[in-house]
Amino acid sequence: MPESNQTRNAATVDAPTESIGWRLEDINFTAIDSAHRQADEPLLLLLIASSFIESGTHLYASNLTTHFDGDREVTTWLTEEWEAEELQHGLALRTYVTHAWPSFDWEHAYAGFIAAFEPLCTMGRLEPRRGLEMVGRCVVETSTTSLYRAIQGHARDPVLRDLVRRIGDDEVRHYKHFLRYFRQFQQREQSSRMAVLGALVRRSLEIGLRDTDSGLRHAYAGRYRDTATPHPTFEETRRAVRALLRPNVPVGLAGAMWLRPLQLAPRVEGAVRRLFAGVARALLFVAAPLTASPAAPDANRRPPSS
Ligand SMILES: [Fe+2]
Ligand SMILES: [Fe+2]
Repeated sequence: MPESNQTRNAATVDAPTESIGWRLEDINFTAIDSAHRQADEPLLLLLIASSFIESGTHLYASNLTTHFDGDREVTTWLTEEWEAEELQHGLALRTYVTHAWPSFDWEHAYAGFIAAFEPLCTMGRLEPRRGLEMVGRCVVETSTTSLYRAIQGHARDPVLRDLVRRIGDDEVRHYKHFLRYFRQFQQREQSSRMAVLGALVRRSLEIGLRDTDSGLRHAYAGRYRDTATPHPTFEETRRAVRALLRPNVPVGLAGAMWLRPLQLAPRVEGAVRRLFAGVARALLFVAAPLTASPAAPDANRRPPSS
């Protein structure tokens, strides 16, 4: 994304939210460009991983509504809009990959992902203070915004570009809701800036270490299950995915979204955003997981060449 656009977007990350609204029927999956099928395997694996994470939203959505029990505005929005839209993201991505890659057994690979993911979706993973959990949700939406904008920048298939643009717009809108709720809770809770920073860092590390890596591992395991042909190792696949994302991550926008809960003065935030642009790039989606997350079966299997 051009820096000028990033700067403009960065200035509006907390502008009033607006509901865009789209449906699966709005995407013409039958028009997927066959030239792009299977030509960009790391991209397809990334889309599969994303479809897993989005489709698993229900596992932690119930924890969130429990956490905010009694706040009717928040729980109503979470259940009636946010969760429904995240699940639609999962279904739309699943539909895309099954059109582009009909031989992939999505159900089987997803079952493996869910088995590893579900035990991790506990109430203990949420920030105890409601306002700080809203900060954590801002981090997640910043990460997904960055992911889908980066895919949009990389993808050549017009159908995929259209799809991830719509999903990315939803993620920005979700972010604005969570940021607004954070500000409401903050008026009562008065968390210190260090406490907010801690919530930002904790959730950022958690995303990279767990969700993203686990989704990709199970996409990889599903793709190369029972294959006798030579294929890349998981580490090679992960590097390829990072390489396709890295040039397209909207660092300026992501940095602004990540920093906004700190409620810095505009001039200070601008200076910090420029100073920490590289740090934001590392902390957000592109971050290389530093430790292994739940491993998928056969994740590093490379059969002998034949
Ligand atoms: Fe999503
Ligand atoms: Fe979202």
